[in-house]
Amino acid sequence: TQIKIDHSSVSKGSYPTFMLKEIDEQPAVMRRIAQEYFDEERQVTVDQDLLTALSAADRLYFVAAGTSYHASLVGKRLFEKYTEIPVEVGVASEFGYHWPLLSKRPFFVFLSQSGETADSRQVLVEAKRRHLPVLVITNSANSTLAREADYTLLLHAGPEIAVASTKAYTAQIAVEAVLAKALGEKLAIQTAVDFDLLGQLGLAANGMETLVAEKDTWSELAHDYLQTANDAFYIGRGVDYDVSLEAALKLKEISYMHTEGFAAGELKHGTIALIEPGVPVIAFITEQATAAHTRGNVQEVVARGAKVLVIANQDCQDAADQIILPTLTTELMPLLTGVCGQLLAYYATLQRGLNVDQPRNLAKSVTVE
Ligand code: G6P
Repeated sequence: TQIKIDHSSVSKGSYPTFMLKEIDEQPAVMRRIAQEYFDEERQVTVDQDLLTALSAADRLYFVAAGTSYHASLVGKRLFEKYTEIPVEVGVASEFGYHWPLLSKRPFFVFLSQSGETADSRQVLVEAKRRHLPVLVITNSANSTLAREADYTLLLHAGPEIAVASTKAYTAQIAVEAVLAKALGEKLAIQTAVDFDLLGQLGLAANGMETLVAEKDTWSELAHDYLQTANDAFYIGRGVDYDVSLEAALKLKEISYMHTEGFAAGELKHGTIALIEPGVPVIAFITEQATAAHTRGNVQEVVARGAKVLVIANQDCQDAADQIILPTLTTELMPLLTGVCGQLLAYYATLQRGLNVDQPRNLAKSVTVE
């Protein structure tokens, strides 16, 4: 069964595809989230009952599927840094059948753009049956998950129509940051108090604007690196690894290229055997602490003939890098690196003459387990 969504009210306007429109909307979504979750005194504002319930938890369990799962991986880093509460992240379809041993005071957080994903709902229903507190972070206020949860936070991303999720991913990360800051402040964690999230969202919006304005650059990069390739690899460490998984999913789901995202240091434990002359490897390097190590991995694949595209930030840049992004706080870099992955996937797919908005075999909402 597939959910029927009424898209009649949403138009592409002058855009050739919904995906490109939704990629372009991301700076505005960042600004809307800032508006929705900060008051006039620039204070973060989140439902106090939710914060009270969360502050009683000794561990958070994030459960999600697909792109929302990838946003949850970033969420773990944000929550552990700003709230000091341990976080476990689970793929919904696995979690539902293999529940981990829970902590004494668990709190469940579901991320779901549509709020309709059956795999996630199955876990939610069981969490409710066990009388555990549940928050849903979703783009759809009237969705099944939103109705069934104790608490809901909205993404405010506007309807997302293209099957490949773009603006929901960056909105999920921004809203996770909002909640992590609000909860951290409530718990009097100094890093949360010092976190200028409003300023960061502004920088992210500006950075996104620059990225989406450079369409010719992205089209050329996709052409040079991806057009004739059959396989592609994304690599990174830490949060750059999280983004590698998402960028790889974006590329494979719409271009049908075989694409994998890897922890850069894991390459040598097997995957490097697949590197042949001409294979594209895209490296995200935005974390100073690990930049030198990832550069070492880049050298290893270059030595085997890989065609390497480096996307770095100003703090980690090297003269030879193809893309240099402004530096955001580490855990928020996916707001920019994620957009790079979206644009590469978009143009690679367009150049292959494929249907960007509706790839084969995929549905926007998957309501079967
Ligand atoms: C489907 C979509 C993906 C999405 C996943 C989770 O597979 O094609 O783009 O990431 O479901 O969806 P959700 O609505 O729960 O975020």
